[in-house]
Amino acid sequence: MNQNVAPKLLAAQDWKAVGIGSKHESATLHVLGQATYTDDIPELHGTLHAALGLSSKAHARITAMDLAPVLAASGVVAVYTASDITGTNDCGPIIHDDPILSTGEVLYVGQPIFIVVADSHDNARRAARLARIDYEELPAIFTPQQAKAAQQYVLPPMQLQRGDFKAAFDSAPNVVRGQLFVGGQEQFYLEGQIAYATPKEDQAMLVQCSTQHPSEMQHVVAHALGIHAHKVQVECRRMGGGFGGKESQSALWAASAAIAASRLRRPVKLRADRDDDMLVTGKRHCFYYEYEVGFDAEGRILAARVDMTLRAGFSADLSGPVATRAVCHFDNAYYLSDVDIRAACGKTNTQSNTAFRGFGGPQGAIAIEYVIDEIARQLGRDALDIRRLNFYGKTERNVTPYGQEIVDNVIDALTAELEQSSEYRARRSAIEAYNRTSPVLKKGLALTPLKFGIAFNVTHLNQAGALVHVYVDGSVLVNHGGTEMGQGINTKVMQVVAHELGLDLEHVRITATDTSKVANTSATAASTGADLNGKAAQDAARQIRERLTAFAIKLYGDEDGLPVQFFDNAVLVNGHRLAFAELVQKAYLARVQLWSDGFYATPGLHWDAKTMSGHPFSYYAYGAAVSEVVVDTLTGEWKLLRADALYDAGNSLNPAIDKGQVEGAFIQGMGWLTTEQLWWNAAGKLMTHAPSTYKIPGISDCPQDFRVELFQNRNVEDSIHRSKAVGEPPLLLPFSVFFAIRDAISSVGGHRVQPPLNAPATSEEILRAISAVQMAA
Ligand code: MTE
Ligand code: MOS
Repeated sequence: MNQNVAPKLLAAQDWKAVGIGSKHESATLHVLGQATYTDDIPELHGTLHAALGLSSKAHARITAMDLAPVLAASGVVAVYTASDITGTNDCGPIIHDDPILSTGEVLYVGQPIFIVVADSHDNARRAARLARIDYEELPAIFTPQQAKAAQQYVLPPMQLQRGDFKAAFDSAPNVVRGQLFVGGQEQFYLEGQIAYATPKEDQAMLVQCSTQHPSEMQHVVAHALGIHAHKVQVECRRMGGGFGGKESQSALWAASAAIAASRLRRPVKLRADRDDDMLVTGKRHCFYYEYEVGFDAEGRILAARVDMTLRAGFSADLSGPVATRAVCHFDNAYYLSDVDIRAACGKTNTQSNTAFRGFGGPQGAIAIEYVIDEIARQLGRDALDIRRLNFYGKTERNVTPYGQEIVDNVIDALTAELEQSSEYRARRSAIEAYNRTSPVLKKGLALTPLKFGIAFNVTHLNQAGALVHVYVDGSVLVNHGGTEMGQGINTKVMQVVAHELGLDLEHVRITATDTSKVANTSATAASTGADLNGKAAQDAARQIRERLTAFAIKLYGDEDGLPVQFFDNAVLVNGHRLAFAELVQKAYLARVQLWSDGFYATPGLHWDAKTMSGHPFSYYAYGAAVSEVVVDTLTGEWKLLRADALYDAGNSLNPAIDKGQVEGAFIQGMGWLTTEQLWWNAAGKLMTHAPSTYKIPGISDCPQDFRVELFQNRNVEDSIHRSKAVGEPPLLLPFSVFFAIRDAISSVGGHRVQPPLNAPATSEEILRAISAVQMAA
């Protein structure tokens, strides 16, 4: 760090370990293939391998089950069903409607019915197919529209009202109304779900697994085994991606491995094959929207109603909180005076949908962007002008529908900067000219903004703990409740601790997240990981620094009247400069405590789930993006030519990592809205359960011209070093890709017809929308 300054001459004020683009803490290990993921942990002698036997019916009663052929298969050691679970047969994170193994009724194709344990992964998987199961089929439904028609929900529907929608709508001079469908998305973490359970003495259990939520895994395993939490230790060094898919959905795998390991008193590893992973686990919720919005002659929204139905799947999982976040992000960056926002979690015979980067926020916000796009077309104006007209104000028009006052609004300045740097207006004219002379290839352009609330809506989850050890050689070991999934939380937390103690990063190391080190942690989710755990680790490091400061003054005095300073791996005290390690050694001999815990609870949050109001977010992150596409109107193929993104990471802890997060989220969100299509057949089987049929973006889908910048800003809240969260919000930036495609389609009808484009905008969907526009034009 600070390579531009010779270390020995560094002055305290020049020293910093945060705000610099240091490389990911595991970058070298990643590149060398030496980073240990759960499946890389050396297997203990006697380790067995498990696989799950899955339902082949969407909704049925099991009338007979013959597992003898499974047990007789080569290498098989044991087979377990629900009746072998000694504790609670449930892995639901909030509502306990989520059996680990089916108890006679199956609710979707892919639901686990039994666990088979064998001497190898292959033998276990082969044996799992040999079960003979008779089903009595029951009626099944699959889509949110069907769930809505049947009034079949996993939770009571929710509603947020402000003002008087009906009166405002009835008196509005203009209206748009319609329906929209936005598909779901598979998390597609590169490392699949995996758990490795090792029985320990006295009925205890160690579970090493790929999870965003070790504490939740600890509780689910303890309940499933019928033992106390203090007998279950869950550890996760890193995940090969989580994206929300390992927040609650890792529980099934952790519990299954632990159940088998506990029965056999042998280590059991359960590693999901990609197809099984996709068939079994939940995904981003698809949404069906019905909306009606009134607006004035200029395009200012006067009244907005939206009715969102989510495909929750067979159980509640995290659908409630996802729907809540969708409701709280329907406003996106816009002031909506009179609203009626509804969300209902449709119960369907499909995988139980769950967290996915943005957690319902993207699904809430895209609806209002769709509406604004339509208002602009109806009025024949540039959509950017309509967006700007509706932006939240600074001192008025600055209260969200759920009652939180926005005090950190930078959307105007940020959008203006991007409009300039992307040459939005000039390119708009150039595209119009291009389209006039290009009958087949049509270009489109869109700028979309984002505002994203940071914090868990559920207040008590906004807490974190950390443990910092300083060893006598001056090296530092940090542990915190957050989990590393590639997003760089460990790098950021290391930077915070190094900064606090005046050390270079190589003196600080972070080890696996471990429930026996930091207890009762929250999921690393809602983009709050670095915010919460960074603060907790800072608190711990500060306590150590304070003790060392007092000790240094005791040794060297403080007559110079200057504060003791920690920088450049050294301590400056009363004119003496000594190495950090030297002071540490002296402190150890003087019996000064050299380790500390730390804790943080985000202040000022409250939320009333009944009235859907309060102050659920600590602050807002902002951003905007401009995308330009070209669409082949004969084939529906398209290409993203250029994308400019500007994101407000506050006083970024690590600009290199943050830019990487923006780029990754942009491309991932683009996949959601364009190529990634989940498709179930008529019998309710997910047929897109592998990369052969489920198309995530590839490297060649990234725009050749991709300009990602961080907006110069500073968090008005006292967040960790005034930074802002970055994990999820940029997933909303590729709305601009979707609306650029819609803009290109719209040009086919001279921008006089609203293209009925649903997401994902696959080539087929684009062609469908083009022909609808051509018929109407
Ligand atoms: N980045 C990578 N590389 N891998 C991931 O799995 N998950 C995202 C985001 N960025 C993810 C990622 C999600 S869903 C969240 S909530 C945040 O990271 C969580 O990490 P943070 O809170 O530390 O930002
Ligand atoms: Mo992220 S969807 O909150 O794990």
